[in-house]
Amino acid sequence: MSTCLFLDITQLESNAVGSSNTKKRRQYRQRNLIIGSVVVLMSGALALSIWSGFSSNNASNTGTAGIAGVNSADANNAELVARGKEVYAAYCASCHGANLEGRPNWDQERPGGGRPAPPLESTGRAWRNPDQLLFEITKYGGQASSPPGYVNNMPGFENILTDEEIWASLAYIKSTWPPDIQAAQEDANLEAR
Ligand code: HEC
Repeated sequence: MSTCLFLDITQLESNAVGSSNTKKRRQYRQRNLIIGSVVVLMSGALALSIWSGFSSNNASNTGTAGIAGVNSADANNAELVARGKEVYAAYCASCHGANLEGRPNWDQERPGGGRPAPPLESTGRAWRNPDQLLFEITKYGGQASSPPGYVNNMPGFENILTDEEIWASLAYIKSTWPPDIQAAQEDANLEAR
């Protein structure tokens, strides 16, 4: 966009040189000055937005300071669970429910294919899956781990959440399960290893 504006300036300048009318030339120069300032301001704004995007990334990482490098859904890590609760509320609750209760009729296929979001609390089926599969479903979406022909409407969060945030959301979900369900899921983890 700024390249365009620069071309405009060159165009205006060559027009100005061709003109013998000094008043007109001054007008051109004023206009060039204005366009020039706009270009400078816009590049500034662009640089600022890139910088603030960068620093807000850093800011979100500061919010996850204690979980940097985490690569498991450890439900006993209080910091991870606390961060996961925030992630869950912001990115998962809209479908899976504020209390992980899921949508009504979650186990019935819709007429057009696909199912409503299931509960993620222990009454659902999520705990039957090992951590790694839960992570993959959340990161890449449910379709990738579904059998052929099955429509799965669980979206992937690959471009929205960091791996740490995904692990955090899962740690939070697991932390809501009673000890016997956590133990049963740990068996699924051991089998998957
Ligand atoms: C747009 C709605 C939507 C959002 C938002 C959403 N999900 Fe889902 N999720 C679904 C649906 C629908 C399914 C079930 C698909 C199926 O089995 O057909 C599902 C399935 C899952 C499963 C597998 C559960 C099982 O019983 O096997 C997990 C784990 C999961 N979601 C985690 C998450 C997490 C974590 C988030 C937030 C980071 C999230 N979901 C956000 C709709 C959503």
